[in-house]
Amino acid sequence: MSIEILQTHKLLDTCEKALAERFTVHKLHEAADKAELIARVAPTVRAIAGGAVDDALMAKLPKLEIIANFGVGYDSIDTNAARARNIRVTNTPNVLNDAMAEITIGLMIALARRLPQTDQFVRQGKWLKGNFPLLSELNGKTVGILGLGRIGKEVAARAQAMKMRVVYHGRKRQPDEPHIYYDNLVDMARDADWLVLIAPGGKATEKIVNREVLTALGPQGFLVNVGRGTLVDEPVLVEMLQSGGIAGAALDVFEKEPQVPEALFALDNVVLSPHQGSATHQTRNKMGALVVANLDAHFAGEPLLSAVV
Ligand code: NAP
Ligand code: 8YV
Repeated sequence: MSIEILQTHKLLDTCEKALAERFTVHKLHEAADKAELIARVAPTVRAIAGGAVDDALMAKLPKLEIIANFGVGYDSIDTNAARARNIRVTNTPNVLNDAMAEITIGLMIALARRLPQTDQFVRQGKWLKGNFPLLSELNGKTVGILGLGRIGKEVAARAQAMKMRVVYHGRKRQPDEPHIYYDNLVDMARDADWLVLIAPGGKATEKIVNREVLTALGPQGFLVNVGRGTLVDEPVLVEMLQSGGIAGAALDVFEKEPQVPEALFALDNVVLSPHQGSATHQTRNKMGALVVANLDAHFAGEPLLSAVV
C-alpha cells in the first residue's frame, strides 16, 4: 500500500510529479474544505511536503513522522512542537546559495544605479530631454552582513568581487572568516554603507532591525533584506525611507507576504522584489529534489540528507 502524504502548498511540477510517483498525495492547498480533508486523512498521513505547519496541525495527524520543508528557512514550522512530538523536520540548504547571492548583488546594483528607474527613463523618452542624475557605486563601500551563514558567505564573496569591504554580525564570531566581526548590530550599521539581512526569521530575530539600527545606518546607508520580512520593523522602515532617514532599500521579503506596504510603491529610493531569491528553474528543481530525497531516505530507514529536527 502506498504511503500517504499531505502537501501544504503548490510545489514545482517536477517535485509534484516525483511525489506522485512515490506516494498518495493529498493536496491541502487545493481542498475546498481543509478541515474535512485533514480529518479524513489523519489516520493515514505519515509525511508532510511543504511548510506552514503549526502544533495544531501536527496534533491532528497522529501518524505524522516527518515534515519535508520546501525552503532552507523553516520559520513557518513549529520545530519545538515537532521535536516534542518526535516528528523529523528537513529543509533545503546550500542548493540555493548561489541564486540567493546573485539576487542580493543584483538588488544592490539595481538600487545603487536606480535600474528600474533608468529603464523607465529610456522607455518614456525622457533621455531625449536630458541625462539621468549621477549616482553612487558599490566599490570602495563597506557592506555589513547580518547572518554570515551559508548564503551570507556567498554574498560576502561576491561583494568582495565588487571591491567592497565586508563586515558581519551574528550571535558569535566565526574565527575562520577573514571579515571583521561586530558583536553589536547597531555598531555595525553605523560603520556600514550597506546593511544586508540574510538571517533566519522567527522569534529570536523578530524586528532585530529596529529604529536604532536604521538610525545608525543613517541617511547615506542602504538596506537590503533577502532574509525574512520579520527581521525588520516594517512601519519604521517605511517612515525612514519617506523621511530620508536611510538612503534606500531593496526588499525581496516582507512581513505579511504577499501584502506589501502601499506607501513603498510611491518611493523612488526603493527596489521591490516578490520573494524571488531562489526562484530560478535551476535552483527550485534542486530544492524539490532535496525534498523528495529526504522523504525517500526517511521511508527507506536511511539517514536524512538535511535534518533540522
Ligand atoms: P544559515 O547558514 O543558518 O545562516 C544563518 C546566519 O544567521 C548564521 O550566520 C547565524 O549566525 C545568523 N543568525 C541566526 N540567528 C541569529 C540571531 N538570533 N541573531 C543574529 N544572527 C543570527 O542559513 P542560510 O542557509 O544562509 O539561510 C539564511 C536565511 O535566508 C533563511 O533562514 C531564510 O530565512 C532566508 N532565505 C531567504 C530566501 C529568499 O527567497 N529571499 C531564500 C533562501 C533563504 P550565528 O549562528 O553566529 O548567529
Ligand atoms: C523560497 C525561501 O522562496 O528557502 C527559503 O527559505 O524563502 C525561498 O527559497 C520558499 O521557501 C519557497 O516557498
